[in-house]
Amino acid sequence: MSPDLYDDPEFYDLLHAGYRDDLAFYRGLADDHGGPVLELGAGSGRVTLALAQAGHAVLAVEPSPAMRARGAARLAAAGCGERVTWIDADMRGLDLGVRVPLAIAPFHALMHLPTLDDQDAALRAAHHHLDPNGAFATDVFVPRFGAPGAAGAPGAVRAERLGDGDLFLWQTHDATRQVVVTEHRWDRVGDDGAVRRRRATLRQRYFQRFELERALRGAGFARVRTFGGFGRAPVTDAATSWVFLAHV
Ligand SMILES: C[S@@+](CC[C@H](N)C(=O)[O-])C[C@H]1O[C@@H](n2cnc3c(N)ncnc32)[C@H](O)[C@@H]1O
Repeated sequence: MSPDLYDDPEFYDLLHAGYRDDLAFYRGLADDHGGPVLELGAGSGRVTLALAQAGHAVLAVEPSPAMRARGAARLAAAGCGERVTWIDADMRGLDLGVRVPLAIAPFHALMHLPTLDDQDAALRAAHHHLDPNGAFATDVFVPRFGAPGAAGAPGAVRAERLGDGDLFLWQTHDATRQVVVTEHRWDRVGDDGAVRRRRATLRQRYFQRFELERALRGAGFARVRTFGGFGRAPVTDAATSWVFLAHV
């Protein structure tokens, strides 16, 4: 069994170094609603940094010590560490005793909640922390598995160059449980000619669109909108992300 990806934040950051699709969306919401922003699953601070650099205070909830430490170091290095409060907590049943105008769970963070009870507890906690005019935003990937050549197709291994190494990715998909497990192997050749391999596993419980819409309603959100991407386009079959914006 490979280590969990979130135990290796350096590898996580390398894998996602080029991913910026969501930053303008979350920063725009923070500009519209104001802070502090409650970020659930803040990870190593990818979105947190964009918000803090735009001048927003962030309450960054992240249970992984390694991810939290890397996030705090990243924000400090960028000179905006004082805008972020890192909180060692689980989003399920969270109660910080504060109300905020905006809560977010970026980059598939809700997909780490394996059961319906976990999902409901996290969404109720997001709702519980919001002002009467508050909003909650999150995104998940559109689950499409098994197409020939796709990462989720049986036996398909995706290979690509990453940094100074070769990355190999493959997925196993349990359609009954709506779980996808992604395996990562990153091989680099050292100066001594030996191959050094880094391994990580990512386990996600994926959502169907209306499943998450209904869960948001069940958690008390009154107006739930779903977009087919971060540009707020309508949902179409071409969408690769569903972006949810819900109001109290
Ligand atoms: C895909 S990462 C997203 C990190 C960051 N928001 C980003 O956009 O790069 C998901 C994060 O959620 C965190 N997470 C997993 N389960 C969680 C839970 N129950 N409560 C809060 N955070 C959780 C993980 O440790 C991980 O850092």
